[in-house]
Amino acid sequence: MAESTKSAKLTIDGNEYDLPIYSPTAGPDVIDIQKLYGQAGVFTYDPGFTSTASCDSTITFIDGGKGELLHRGYPIDQLAGQSHYLEVCYLMLYGELPSAKQLETFESTITNHTMLHEQMVNFFRGFRRDAHPMATMVGVVGAMSAFYHDSTDISDPKQREIASHRLIAKMPTIAAWAYKYSIGQPFVYPRNDLDYASNFIHMCFAVPAENYEVNPIFSRAMDRIFTLHADHEQNASTSTVRLASSSGANPFACIAAGIACLWGPAHGGANQACLEMLKEIGTPDRIPEYIARAKDKNDPFRLMGFGHRVYKNFDPRATVMKQSADEVLELLGVEDNPILATAKELEVAALADPYFAEKKLFPNVDFYSGIILEAMGFPTSMFTPIFAVARTVGWISQWAEQLSDPKHKIGRPRQLYLGETERDYVDIENR
Ligand code: CMC
Repeated sequence: MAESTKSAKLTIDGNEYDLPIYSPTAGPDVIDIQKLYGQAGVFTYDPGFTSTASCDSTITFIDGGKGELLHRGYPIDQLAGQSHYLEVCYLMLYGELPSAKQLETFESTITNHTMLHEQMVNFFRGFRRDAHPMATMVGVVGAMSAFYHDSTDISDPKQREIASHRLIAKMPTIAAWAYKYSIGQPFVYPRNDLDYASNFIHMCFAVPAENYEVNPIFSRAMDRIFTLHADHEQNASTSTVRLASSSGANPFACIAAGIACLWGPAHGGANQACLEMLKEIGTPDRIPEYIARAKDKNDPFRLMGFGHRVYKNFDPRATVMKQSADEVLELLGVEDNPILATAKELEVAALADPYFAEKKLFPNVDFYSGIILEAMGFPTSMFTPIFAVARTVGWISQWAEQLSDPKHKIGRPRQLYLGETERDYVDIENR
């Protein structure tokens, strides 16, 4: 924990309380209110945690105003442009970029853990034939604690590391198999001669009956999607993982909880929701109608892929993703795609509209990632599973960080109670 160099004064009913202030290496100062309830008998109130730091962390830093995203200090555009996903995974887990030897060992470890326990096939087969891949992933990842019980000992750092490697290595296989099951195709086993992104694409699109060559353009785009989604500070799913872990739950249960949270349309489900919205809009001439709906307070419709809790000028991931979308579509020769045409015009129209400018609503990463995945042939139901594959390293790095912090304790928020005060039970015949 940082040293307190200054303090804040809080006055309640004439009584003064000194609250320590900590200065981070980057970002706003934080006021420590841990002792406030004990001293003053009051809670703080912050639904949605908009002004609350829930932990200290050294993994990811976001400056929403500047549109900056750093992993262990390295800007996301440099990582997306010069590094690759498995190197970023190493960086997240171990805090520093690897040497050539360290990277080789790490890549070999991950590659050699990609197969699932064969009995897990039976578990997949228990799902309804058309199960959404996210539903299957929540179940299968939770069930890993039964199949890999040896790495559930969270008090042993070595077992924690093995669990991390297993999750990063097996998540693409789980996501690909959840997809294959949902479309009634045979499972395709991992291939250790392929890189991480190519192996995932191969498991999704190959069939045993014929050869499937992975398009290197697809591999590059997929690796970039993984890199751009690797971690994002204390977002909803990561906070879910940390909260689940705070009770001492095993890593597979915690990551399953993170996947469940990610599925929501305000979080990881946004790229699916965005593409569905673009398809519903259909043609650029209908854009004004949808913009008007997004601005109408009486209409629950929101422009999916726009706005962010933290980024209030631009999403730096969206900038890289937009380049990737342009690249993939150009190389595939589908620049005339009507969805992209609608997306491009919608972006221009929304950015020119004072409502979106005033509320600082800019396209986020999901606005472009859905377009790339659609062009690659993924159905919308696979968009969030791909996000889950990518985010696994962020979740597990944050989980490991929390467990190695000697100050960690069970998460237990309080509340502003607005219900009935104590009253006597009334027998049913007297109500
Ligand atoms: N379309 C229209 N109006 C919007 C939108 C939108 N997409 N987003 C926010 N607003 C309005 C909202 O109605 C509110 O207006 P008012 O102040 O008049 O009540 C104002 O902007 C602030 O919105 P908020 O809901 O208080 O902002 P938030 O920070 O709680 O929400 C958000 C952030 C991402 C949930 C929201 O912008 C949203 O629902 N966006 C669409 C879903 C989406 O694209 N989500 C992906 C986020 S990026 C992926 C990730 O990192 O997980």
